[in-house]
Amino acid sequence: MQVKISISLLFFLLFLSDLSLSSSLDCNAADRTTLLNIKSELGNPPELSTWLPATNCCTWSNVYCSDTGRINNVYLFSLNISTTIPPSFGDLPKLETIQLQTIPGLYGTIPPSFSKLRKLEILFLTDTSVTGAIPDFLSRTNLSALDLHNNKFSGPTPMSLTKLPRLQFLDLSGNSFSGTIPPGLLHGTDRRYLYLARNKLSGEIPEDYGNGDIDTIDLSHNRLTGDPSFLFGLTKPMTKIDLSWNQLEFDMTRPGVADPNSGSNPWTPLTLLPQSEFVKEAGGKNFCAAIHAIRYHQLSLFLLKQWHF
Ligand SMILES: *[C@@H]1O[C@H](CO)[C@@H](O)[C@H](O)[C@H]1NC(C)=O
Ligand SMILES: *[C@@H]1O[C@H](CO)[C@@H](O)[C@H](O)[C@H]1NC(C)=O
Repeated sequence: MQVKISISLLFFLLFLSDLSLSSSLDCNAADRTTLLNIKSELGNPPELSTWLPATNCCTWSNVYCSDTGRINNVYLFSLNISTTIPPSFGDLPKLETIQLQTIPGLYGTIPPSFSKLRKLEILFLTDTSVTGAIPDFLSRTNLSALDLHNNKFSGPTPMSLTKLPRLQFLDLSGNSFSGTIPPGLLHGTDRRYLYLARNKLSGEIPEDYGNGDIDTIDLSHNRLTGDPSFLFGLTKPMTKIDLSWNQLEFDMTRPGVADPNSGSNPWTPLTLLPQSEFVKEAGGKNFCAAIHAIRYHQLSLFLLKQWHF
């Protein structure tokens, strides 16, 4: 499953981001000063040994420059540090992408200075110890992808995220988010992804996520209730729906939920099954075919038997 998510992300990034490797340009002096402040706020980790004063910061590791010599991407992975998120990120006004990934010693909350990042399109903050709520000021950015999986965030999924008109990739999996899922979190015309697995979300899934132009929905391992049958149907173009490990109830008579005649259905309803190995297998054609061959009422029984209440 992790591989699948990464591939989705990769396609998404290739699709969205236009990173230029213009290392011959000299970098903006203010950006260089800011990066040196960030390095200091991170405790001068050895991985950033190329970040030296009076050198061209477009040639430094872990950053990209735009074709005007402005820093537009900072990516930091697997650092052995123990500190908060550097507030100085807010002083890189042309920043479009921030990646802070697999840094377990990174703690504290998202700093208020991030509200200054009006051009920020991609924020990946994953596998850290960052806590707190998702701040409302993130809605002042230009985010199209927000990936906060495997951190220690809590609180509600804020309504303010719905104000991001380009948000089309949202991954909040593996935190302690609670409350209901707001409607209207995703925008854009194609390639929309919603991953909210492994939280404490409750209530019913808003009906607007069944409108057919979402690629992936993973809401597994929450406390969701209600009948999500509206997410299924022959015309829905989703590639994956995983609703396992919730307290949902299904209308098995609804077209597409468990219809044995839907052999041409491009997606599979089998990711409903609670065991993760079934979820993984559900994309396999053989498994699909096998289940489709089971008679309708048997399939119902099969699904209900596997259910975790
Ligand atoms: C991380 O850094 C601490 C002290 O700075 C050190 O004791 C520890 O061995 C380091 N761990 C790794 C995996 O490098
Ligand atoms: C926001 O991002 C879009 C592309 O995704 C871009 O066209 C637009 O200019 C950006 N807005 C700002 C304020 O940078």
